[in-house]
Amino acid sequence: MKVTIVGTGYVGLVTGACFADLGIDVTCLDTDSDKIDALKAGVIPIYEPGLDAIVERACAAGRLSFTTRYEFAIPDADAVFIAVGTPPRSSDGQADLSAIMASAATIAPLLCGFTVVATKSTVPVGTSSRIETLMRRAAPEADFAVASNPEFLREGAAIHDFTHPDRVVLGVDDRRAAEVLREIYAPIEAAGVPVLVVDRSTAEIAKYAANSFLATKIAFINEVADLCESTGGSVDAVAHAIGLDHRIGPDFLKAGPGFGGSCFPKDTQAFVKTSEALGVRQRVVAAAIHANEARKLHLVERVVEASGGSLAGLRVAVLGLTFKAGTDDLRDSPSLVVVPELAKLAREVRAHDPAGLMRAREQIEGPVFCADLRKALDGADVAVLLTDWPEYKAMDLVEAAGLMTGRVLVDLRNALDIAAATAAGFSVFGVGRSEVRGAAPVERMTAIRRARTAVQAAE
Ligand code: UDX
Repeated sequence: MKVTIVGTGYVGLVTGACFADLGIDVTCLDTDSDKIDALKAGVIPIYEPGLDAIVERACAAGRLSFTTRYEFAIPDADAVFIAVGTPPRSSDGQADLSAIMASAATIAPLLCGFTVVATKSTVPVGTSSRIETLMRRAAPEADFAVASNPEFLREGAAIHDFTHPDRVVLGVDDRRAAEVLREIYAPIEAAGVPVLVVDRSTAEIAKYAANSFLATKIAFINEVADLCESTGGSVDAVAHAIGLDHRIGPDFLKAGPGFGGSCFPKDTQAFVKTSEALGVRQRVVAAAIHANEARKLHLVERVVEASGGSLAGLRVAVLGLTFKAGTDDLRDSPSLVVVPELAKLAREVRAHDPAGLMRAREQIEGPVFCADLRKALDGADVAVLLTDWPEYKAMDLVEAAGLMTGRVLVDLRNALDIAAATAAGFSVFGVGRSEVRGAAPVERMTAIRRARTAVQAAE
């Protein structure tokens, strides 16, 4: 079995490496020659824990190769998986399919023998048919079948999610395509993973529905958190109580700053826009998108409130910039909105992230970026945790308090140990918790502000 993957992002490269690890002969293709040169040199251009070892193992076994040349990668393939980006169109928010269509047009005339062309990328319902029409026109003699094989990989957990999926979804309208794809996934099916063979539209809708549901679940618990903050409840306890209901489940009920990433924001938007273009309203998902966007500025107000009503004259340390822990990705991260707003209000913002600083420097205006957490905390009046990295959970709170001038800790992931933070002298403000733990900081912040203003006036 020979497989070609078009696109070497975190979906394409993970898919190619894991297929090769299953014993399949894989060629990963990308038109970005820098990426391919790096991969040929053993350098992994994306941050995905565990991927480098799998790529190295597969290359050593001679089952994984890299190229920029379609004419090398397509003719021998039994299946071609298209895993290129489908970013939102700036004009209307629908998925931009230009890369998908360009790839399909290039593939068609190079096909040799029956080949399955499957989309891995998240594509609006009806895309498989559009790809098929385009390919038939480009290569009327070619023998192929277009399929939809959506992925459900989480960044930072992509290897696990590929090797231990909850299910494999194969959207086909050709028996031969089903046979080829089931052969490719046979080892995963043999491990007991359900392999669903459905029509192509069902597969395409299932992907958007999955991401839209998960995003809506997060937006929902975040608004439950708002209610808890005004009534004395604990959102973590509410999440636990409802999550024990097997119809709800405990996952994706962690309140925080809102969902971000390369998928949820774009997929929810595309789901709504694609539906609307077909005359169908997605009111629930549209509301989740709106709630998620509004939350980011609401969080800035929470930080101001926790700091005694103003950030003027104060120094703020921001812990975490990536959209979640375990990735270097800042796409649609809450930090892209929250940090510039804080920088407008505060005297200075210092920002730290264990993996995302390089990308943050390109995408966020306003803060001083600190590679050393202690530097970010040094002299800060307020600390704001935006991403629940393990190193923040493990940080020495007594040392942190000793470095800071103020004692306000706004934990927007409820990631830190409240008792330890309070014992270290912090006033802890979380998400979905009404009580402030520790001494009310208003007087202290006012005193600090006055002192700083006096110092600035003297300078
Ligand atoms: C998501 C889907 O989980 C995955 O199946 C799909 O293939 C791609 O999109 P990903 O975007 O990598 O994966 O990250 P995920 O772990 O799902 O988190 C998405 C966002 O939701 C992050 O901003 C995260 O911080 C947030 N989140 C997640 C919460 O706020 N609370 C939660 O309980 C879970």
